[in-house]
Amino acid sequence: MCGIVGYVGHQNAVPILVEGLHRLEYRGYDSAGLAVQRKHGIEIHKRQGKVREMEASLPKRFAGVVGVGHTRWATHGAPSDGNAHPQSDTSGRIAVVHNGIIENAHELRAQLEARGVVFASQTDTEVLAQLIAGVETDSLEDAVRSALRAITGTYGIAVMDARHPDQIVVARNGSPVILGIGDKEMFIASDASALVRHTQQAIYLDDGEIAVVEARGFRVTSLDALPSTKQPTTLQLVDDQMSKGSFSHFTMKEIYEQPDAVRGTLRGRLDRRFSTARLDGLNLPARDLLRFRRIKIIGCGSACISGFLGARMIERLSRIPCDAESAAEFRYRNPVIEDDTLYVAVSQSGETFDTLAAVEEIKRKGGAVVGIVNVVGSTIARACGRGVYLHAGPEIAVVSTKTFMSTLVAFVLLALHLGRMKDVSAGAGRRIIDALDQLPDALGSLIANQAQMTDLAKKYAHFANAYFVGRNEGYALAMEGALKLKEVSYLHAEAYPASELKHGPLALISPDTLTVVVIPSDDLFEKNVSTIEEIRARRGPVIALSHTATLPVAVDDVIVVPQLHELLDPLLMLVPLQQFAFRVAIERGCDIDQPRNLAKSVTVE
Ligand code: AGP
Repeated sequence: MCGIVGYVGHQNAVPILVEGLHRLEYRGYDSAGLAVQRKHGIEIHKRQGKVREMEASLPKRFAGVVGVGHTRWATHGAPSDGNAHPQSDTSGRIAVVHNGIIENAHELRAQLEARGVVFASQTDTEVLAQLIAGVETDSLEDAVRSALRAITGTYGIAVMDARHPDQIVVARNGSPVILGIGDKEMFIASDASALVRHTQQAIYLDDGEIAVVEARGFRVTSLDALPSTKQPTTLQLVDDQMSKGSFSHFTMKEIYEQPDAVRGTLRGRLDRRFSTARLDGLNLPARDLLRFRRIKIIGCGSACISGFLGARMIERLSRIPCDAESAAEFRYRNPVIEDDTLYVAVSQSGETFDTLAAVEEIKRKGGAVVGIVNVVGSTIARACGRGVYLHAGPEIAVVSTKTFMSTLVAFVLLALHLGRMKDVSAGAGRRIIDALDQLPDALGSLIANQAQMTDLAKKYAHFANAYFVGRNEGYALAMEGALKLKEVSYLHAEAYPASELKHGPLALISPDTLTVVVIPSDDLFEKNVSTIEEIRARRGPVIALSHTATLPVAVDDVIVVPQLHELLDPLLMLVPLQQFAFRVAIERGCDIDQPRNLAKSVTVE
């Protein structure tokens, strides 16, 4: 969470830092700030609110060739001018921007206060600034190293010192820090999206590394001061992927990009000759894959929900028992890791802290784990070392749309790959491949059809509560529909298995509670019809998400979605749920790309 940028070179750092912060704002957006080296020392400007508000209030002569910037998602201390980063020590000599959480901040603060240090903010980051300032040494690198030895927790930091005006010292433990190599200038960012405009050559710091960054280059060492050799990576991001183009919101742009995202995920992976999927990145030959007797999928939020859907697909085609679980719940229950289980970690960003911690726990206990990740070179992708990249393109809006879709495609491919090693016939495999071939165009037509969603949003946006219900895959899809709606529109939405309604939640059904029922034309169609009857009997309004316009039961509205193959039903049914959430949010005047209290990648526990 939060975004960090830095610059050391010959240009004015301020426009570079501000532009970088705009690009990283989706990572956190409750306050923003900059620090630059000036002749008389470090100058800091920071503000509660969005980057544009901080930018608009910048003093005229605020400039320098060395500087850092930050956009915040509050952990310690409410959003305020004082708690915004950069944080500094009492004398104003040190400036620190920080992503992550210092877990022993309270204890360290008490120790510093006992020595007479007076704090100006409630942040854990100020503790670090005060600690660094208190180290007696002529080297900023040594001061940072010494302060970091005293702290526990996670961090990605960039530190400036008025006594070392040509340097920025950065360090990483659990929160990404990337260096961009320029021509006699260096860039720093917590996310490659803030670098691509300036350079394609990047160095990814690993946990436990510190770098001294100057205009002429950088030097990386470990926390123990041992030198680290780093090879530059070429960034794969393209600059124009990062703009909204003609769309009003990144969310809608990314909904529209789903056909291309799916093409990206499918590219080179359909093997028509053997009616299967090629997943070379798994790096697991058939002999090794077949020894797994179970599959466990982990992820957080939408990534976890995609896992519920993926588990059904895999179990259906391969008959290998498969289930999904929240990565956070998984890691905290001291999980039994079995060597005949394949673990699959899902994360679009590749930086989600709980998912990464779960991956480390699996690896520590000797388990085999593969990743399904969008961001190439991200921490989870590197920790897994093998898996399936989504190639969906960058996703900027806080809510997952196209990466959720692409993750489902990756699961279809994995299910097909495993299924064809077991009992799925070549003919059945071919039908899935044919359907996958048609998927991008079918999604394109569905996405273009906005009118009904706009009407439905106008009709239901004033509701305070909504249920999303379904059975099996329909229930998992209901979870994603409810999550999308609550994230972007703040309308309280809850998903429930349709079969469970009568065991409690039916008490809340009334003319004031909307229910969206996922009712595909599958084996459970009749059961879902009965659920609708039960809701209607309580005068609850119903939107049915269906394959047919003519349901044997009265509903208020039907959204009809085409069918390609039953395995792909959730992928097609997802689109109207995304659009409904988006349109309701428009009606309710919400900040769709940057919903309150959220951030794109959750790099804290
Ligand atoms: C989805 O709309 C959410 N913003 C959130 O649940 C997200 O899916 C979750 O935080 C996991 O992120 P990841 O895929 O980057 O790991």
